[in-house]
Amino acid sequence: MSFPDRRLRRLRRTPALRRLVAETRLGVDDLIAPMFVRELGDVPLPIASLPGVVQHTLDSLRAEAERLATLGVPAIVLFGIPATKDAEGSQAWASDGIVQRALGALRADLGDDVVLIADLCVDEYTSHGHCGIVGADGIVDNDATLELYRRAAVAQADAGAHVVAPSGMMDGQVAAIRAALDDAAHAHIPILAYAAKYASAFYGPFRDAVEVQIADGGDRTTYQQDPRNSREAMLEIELDLAEGADMIMVKPAVAYLDIVRQARDVTDVPIAAYHVSGEYAMLKAAAANGWIDGDAVALETLTSIKRAGADMILTYLAGEVAELLSRR
Ligand code: PBG
Repeated sequence: MSFPDRRLRRLRRTPALRRLVAETRLGVDDLIAPMFVRELGDVPLPIASLPGVVQHTLDSLRAEAERLATLGVPAIVLFGIPATKDAEGSQAWASDGIVQRALGALRADLGDDVVLIADLCVDEYTSHGHCGIVGADGIVDNDATLELYRRAAVAQADAGAHVVAPSGMMDGQVAAIRAALDDAAHAHIPILAYAAKYASAFYGPFRDAVEVQIADGGDRTTYQQDPRNSREAMLEIELDLAEGADMIMVKPAVAYLDIVRQARDVTDVPIAAYHVSGEYAMLKAAAANGWIDGDAVALETLTSIKRAGADMILTYLAGEVAELLSRR
């Protein structure tokens, strides 16, 4: 062979050639839109740290879900902001809790056209903001919390969720939820397990969105993963799969692409990656300043998450990227 070897640039000459040889394809089918629904109030409320994202009313949620469905977005994941909170987060499983009502309404509107994923945790509903029952020692009580998750799983499935997505990072949560669903005639409901979920500062804007402040300046480091660890993430995934997870998630996404890649190498189940609130907020802030091309960076970011090995992406960009992709 003579050098320089021209094989690389030869295949980059035209847009159609580049399209033909592209290894990674981002499409609307990859997108899952996170949405917030608020029990109180009758107008949607903007979230300052998440430009373009709102706390929906039931009515505005239904309209936006309809719009996303029309754009072809295959799934949404729901988070609730309840009118009242308590120590156990009982609105997470109340049959008239805001997410359960939203699931019922969306299921009535959309049937099976959009996969309705229910985030399954209690932090939006607890007065102290933790993802479970806080014990006398101030630490979240793992096994006592599993009972709350069982109740929430059944309530969400009863209300019309197609998939439940436990995000609380209690040990054994997938097995507990699987058993509860099976016992309640919901054996067909899949579990998307937030398996490798890190204690991340990138969740800041999300906590504004759901109005969660962790009591006494606390954090989630006793249950979410330490960002310094990656082998531990593979153990989390292995255990969640052994407990019956149908799909797994890595979260956050961009700062953890190495974890997405390693996950891809160890499992063949579908992998979701969560492009989280802080990752979205940084992109939007830089774009608003004209420092980056927001649309181009959005497409490049989501493409990179797929290239790392994700099959689907939870992202606040879902609606706008679906529109961008339909125009190309
Ligand atoms: C927990 C949950 C969180 C997010 C999704 N589910 C917050 C947390 O763990 O503190 C964060 C998502 C984001 O930042 O976009 N219910």
